[in-house]
Amino acid sequence: MASYSNHTPVLLNETIEALAVQAGGRYIDCTVGGGGHAAAILEHSSPGGQLLGIDADPEAVKVARARLEAYGSSVLIVNDNFVNLEAICIKYDFLPVHGIIFDLGLSSLQLNGSGRGFSFQHDAPLDMRFSPSQRVTAADIVNASSEAELAHIIRTYGEEGCSHRIARRIVRERPVKTTLELAQIIERAVVSRRRGRIHPATKTFQALRIAVNHELESLEAALKQAINLLGFEGRLVVISYHSLEDRLVKQFMQQESKGCICPPGTPSCICQHTAHLRLVSRRVITPSLEEVSTNPRSRSAKLRVAERIITQDEWCETADRLCFLGESSARGWKRPSLLKEVTRITPVF
Ligand SMILES: C[S@@+](CC[C@H](N)C(=O)[O-])C[C@H]1O[C@@H](n2cnc3c(N)ncnc32)[C@H](O)[C@@H]1O
Repeated sequence: MASYSNHTPVLLNETIEALAVQAGGRYIDCTVGGGGHAAAILEHSSPGGQLLGIDADPEAVKVARARLEAYGSSVLIVNDNFVNLEAICIKYDFLPVHGIIFDLGLSSLQLNGSGRGFSFQHDAPLDMRFSPSQRVTAADIVNASSEAELAHIIRTYGEEGCSHRIARRIVRERPVKTTLELAQIIERAVVSRRRGRIHPATKTFQALRIAVNHELESLEAALKQAINLLGFEGRLVVISYHSLEDRLVKQFMQQESKGCICPPGTPSCICQHTAHLRLVSRRVITPSLEEVSTNPRSRSAKLRVAERIITQDEWCETADRLCFLGESSARGWKRPSLLKEVTRITPVF
C-alpha cells in the first residue's frame, strides 16, 4: 500500500480548476488509483460534496478506500472498468454529476515493483492486466500471436518504427516469460538502430499494455457515456500520457463541440449531429517545469477540458418539464442551475 500513497497526483491544481469543483458538487473519478485527485476533489467540494471513484485494479481500490475512509458516506469506491461507467452510475443512482475526471495510464504502484509486468525496470511475469479478472495477459499476446499480428500491435499502439524487426525477433526467441527477457530481445532487435533518449523497449511495452487492456476502445466508449452523465455546465477533464490517448480525447472533444459534421460541400445537413460540449480551453494544459522536475512521471501529461452544454432537444425537454409538469428537479440536478442554463441558452435558438 505504501507505494500507492507515494503516487503523486499529476496536474492537481489544474484538475481542480478545470473541474470547477464547487461545494456540494458531485464528481466521478474514473481512475481513482491512489486517491490523490479524489481526496483533493472531496476537500474542495466540502461541505456536501460527493465522489464516486472507479478503478479496474482491485489493489488500487483497496488503497483508495483506505485513503478516503475519513470522508465517510461522501465517497463510494467501485472496482470496475470505466467502460461500464453509465451502468455503474445507474446502479448507484449517481447522476447527473458536476464533473468527471479520467487520469489515464498507470499509478506508481503498478509501475514500481507491483510484480505485474508493466515495467521493464523490474523483472516480473509478462502480465500487464489492470484486473486479474481479464483473461488475456501480455504473455498470451507475445507468445500466441503471429508475427504479422505482433508487428501490427507494436506499430499501432506503440507507434514503433522498428515493429517488424521486433516482432520477427520475438517470434524467433519465444516463449518469452518475463519483462526483462522481452526487454533484452527488443534491445537485440533494434541494436545499432537506436541511440535515443528512451529505452528501446518503451514503445513495445506501451503497445502491449494498451492491447491487453483494450485501453483505447474503453476510453472511447467511456467518453461517450460521460456526456450523458454530466449535468448542464458539468466538466469533463481528461489527463493523458501518450499521443494516441491525447489524439483520441482531442478529436472526441472537438467533434462533440460541433453541430453539423457533414463533409464540406454537403448541400444540406444529413448528419443531424448536435454539439454536447463546449471546449473550455482550446489549448492543452501541461505541467509546469517545476512539477516536471519534482515529479518526472508528469512530463508527458496533457490535460483537456470541456463543458457540457444543453442541446436544443434537451432544452425543449427541460422547458417542457419545468413549464408544464412543474418538476423542480431533473434526477437530482438542482433547479437553479437548470433554470440558469435555460435562461442563458434561450436566445441561441
Ligand atoms: C494514473 S493512475 C490514477 C491516479 C489517481 N488519479 C491518483 O491521484 O492517485 C490510473 C489508474 O487508472 C486505472 N485504470 C486505467 N484504465 C482503467 C479502466 N479502463 N477502468 C478503470 N480503471 C482504469 C489504473 O488501474 C490506475 O489505477
